[in-house]
Amino acid sequence: MNNESCCVVSCEKPLDQEYWDAQYKANATGWDLGLVSPPIKTYIDTLKDKDIAILIPGCGNSYEAAYLLEQGFTNVTVIDIAPTLVKIIAEKFITNTHIQVLLGDFFSHKGEYDLIIEQTFFCALPPTMRQKYVWKMHELLAKDGKISGLLFNRIFEVSPPFGGSQEEYELLFKHAFDFTSLEKSNNSIAPRSNSELFFEFKKNSTTLVNLYEFEGITCSGCMDTVTKKFAALNDVLNVSMSSNFAEVLIVSNREIPLEELQTIVSYDEKYKIKKITK
Ligand SMILES: C[S@@+](CC[C@H](N)C(=O)[O-])C[C@H]1O[C@@H](n2cnc3c(N)ncnc32)[C@H](O)[C@@H]1O
Repeated sequence: MNNESCCVVSCEKPLDQEYWDAQYKANATGWDLGLVSPPIKTYIDTLKDKDIAILIPGCGNSYEAAYLLEQGFTNVTVIDIAPTLVKIIAEKFITNTHIQVLLGDFFSHKGEYDLIIEQTFFCALPPTMRQKYVWKMHELLAKDGKISGLLFNRIFEVSPPFGGSQEEYELLFKHAFDFTSLEKSNNSIAPRSNSELFFEFKKNSTTLVNLYEFEGITCSGCMDTVTKKFAALNDVLNVSMSSNFAEVLIVSNREIPLEELQTIVSYDEKYKIKKITK
């Protein structure tokens, strides 16, 4: 899967706007399929309501969006952080009023969508951002909204892309979303055959999904202790900490006062927790 690798600049660099724009400028787009991803095409073909609001984050050359438009969908938004790319796709769709092309950071985007399509965006983000991804997806979806697409079911020696496993995704998304589908994809393109999971997760609108900055943890043992303490709280359904220990995602049935969370970790004076606001 050499063609999945995309590091022409340096993988040590932050995966920011400059990094992604340099990939497009250098034409180093090994992830680009040149066509709508077959499992996503199959999924789009099952959708009946063509007026639903659809978002495609990290849209790249937007073959999925082009397919949606060909099929008569009327409310498609695509967003990408790379200016060089966005200039090209904005030109491509200039005469189509059913699509909005946005240059920007998905994590700063505001909106409300019935469906968000995932196609090699999650795997392009540093794994430290996975909790933030779940939080942001939950925020952007309307009641009963869905996120659907593909996630890698393998690891990579050179990243991005960053891989993962079904078990990891279940732990990460549980209770924030109901898993209506999470299975091995049976019609991935040949180089990704047997290494992708097709998923459709429905927003769980009855739960609160909050993200907090966490300060003071330096080892995974301490992370486990803190995570277990939060998870033991009444009405807390799921707790997940980012791999750099800097953020914690809490899914709960009620708003947990910040003081309550801070008190639980007060046995170590270094620990500080702060809510990230939307
Ligand atoms: C691996 S590429 C996938 C592109 C496209 N989905 C595809 O499959 O061809 C990841 C894309 O995410 C974009 N991206 C990375 N971080 C982003 C962010 N925070 N907000 C919006 N787009 C981002 C990059 O510019 C790049 O186009």
